Amino acid sequence: MNNVLYDQAVEILERNDLGHYTVPTHGLYPFQWNWDSALSALGQYYINESRAWTEIETLFEHQWEDGMVPHIIFHKEDDGYFPGPEVWATNRKVPSSGITQPPVTGFAIRRLYDRAHDKDMAQRRAKALLPKIAAWHNWFFANRDPDGTGLVAIIHPWESGRDNSIDWDDAFSRVPTEGVGEFTRRDTMHADPAHRPTKEQYQRYIWLVQHFRSLSWDNSLLHDASPFRVVDPGFNAILLRSCADLAALAEELGDDVLATEQRRLAEKGLAAMETLWSDKHQQYLCFDRAAEALIDSPSIGGLLPVFARIEQSRADAIAARIDDLGRRVKYLIPSHDPDVEGYDGARYWRGPSWLIVNYMISDGLLRDGHKDTADRIIADSMKLIHIGGFAEYFDPMNGAPCGGPHFTWTAAMVIEFLKLTGEVA
Ligand code: DGY
Repeated sequence: MNNVLYDQAVEILERNDLGHYTVPTHGLYPFQWNWDSALSALGQYYINESRAWTEIETLFEHQWEDGMVPHIIFHKEDDGYFPGPEVWATNRKVPSSGITQPPVTGFAIRRLYDRAHDKDMAQRRAKALLPKIAAWHNWFFANRDPDGTGLVAIIHPWESGRDNSIDWDDAFSRVPTEGVGEFTRRDTMHADPAHRPTKEQYQRYIWLVQHFRSLSWDNSLLHDASPFRVVDPGFNAILLRSCADLAALAEELGDDVLATEQRRLAEKGLAAMETLWSDKHQQYLCFDRAAEALIDSPSIGGLLPVFARIEQSRADAIAARIDDLGRRVKYLIPSHDPDVEGYDGARYWRGPSWLIVNYMISDGLLRDGHKDTADRIIADSMKLIHIGGFAEYFDPMNGAPCGGPHFTWTAAMVIEFLKLTGEVA
C-alpha cells in the first residue's frame, strides 16, 4: 500500500514539474512559489537529485539585487491567478511579487547536501548557493529588523505563508480597505470559497500591495511604512534554523567567515525568541511591532519554534502542548487551537492541518527527544493522505481534504515521511 502512495506522490511531483521549477498545483497556483519550491525539492531529491538542486537554483535566479527573494516568480503568463504581475508592478525582467516568504532554503540545501549520493555535484551547487542564501538572510536583518532586536517582522500576511491566520486579525484590521478599487479574485474559482480567505481580507492584502507599489518596492522604506508589522515566531524559527544550517554547511565547505556570520544571527535570534514566550499558553506568540504588544493568539506559529534549536525546556513544553491538542483533534497539528474563538477547521490557516508544518515540527521534536509526539504527528499525516489524497490542507477533526488538489509539497512530505519511517526503502 505504501509503495502505491509513494508512486502517487512521485506522479504528482512529475505532473507539477515544468522543467526548471514546480507549480504548487495547476490552476490555483500556476507559478513558482518560494517556500513551496524549497520544501518540494526534498521530495524531488528521491526522483532526481540534480532536479532538486535546480528547483532552488531557479528561485535564486530571481533574487533581487538587495538580497530579497520574492514569494512568487511569474515565469509565464496565466490569467487564472490574482493578483498577477500587473498588480505587483515590480518592474523585473521576469515578473515577480515584491514581498518574500519563509526562508527555508538554508535548511533544505543542507538536507540535500547531507543526503547527496553525488557529493561532487552537491558540493559545487551548495557552494554556489551559499552566498545567495546568506545575502537573503542578511537582507532580512537589515530591512526587517531595523532596531537590531534579533527577530524580523513580516509586513504582509502572505509573507508568513499563513495568509489568513487568526494571529493577524487585530493587526490586519488597522490596514485600510478604502480606495482599493474593484478586482476579481481567481482563487475562489479553483477552490471552495469556504476554504479560502474572505473578501475583506483580500481587500486588505491588495491595499498593502498597492501601498508598497506606491513606494516603488524600496525595501529600505517598506518596514516602517507598513501599518502591518508582525514578528511571527514561526517565520523567525524557519529563518533561524536556516541560518544555523547554512552555518553548518558553510563550515563543512570551508567558508568560515560565512559560517561565523550565520551562526551569530541564529544565536542572537534564538535568545530574542524568549521574549515571545507565553507562560499562559505554554507556547510562543506573535508580537505586533506596530502596536508594541504580544498577540494573544495560540497558533501553530508559536509551536514552529521547535524547528529551531530552542531551549530543551521550551521544546518539552511544546511537545506537551501538541499532546494536549492531540486529545482535542483527531489529526494533528491544527493550525489554530480548536477551542479558541475564530477557529475554522476548513479555512486555510485558521484551523486546518498542513503536512509541511507537521514535517518541520516533527523534525525538531525528533531531534529534541520527543519521538512519541513526532510519531503521532507523522501517523496522523499519513492517515490524512489515506482519507483525502494529496490535498493542500485538511480538517483536523474529520480529515476532509481542503484547498487545492494534487499538491506538490504535500506529495513531497509524503515521500519524506515514507522514507523517514522506513516504510519505503
Ligand atoms: C495565495 O494566493 O493564496 C497565496 O497564498 C499568496 O501567496
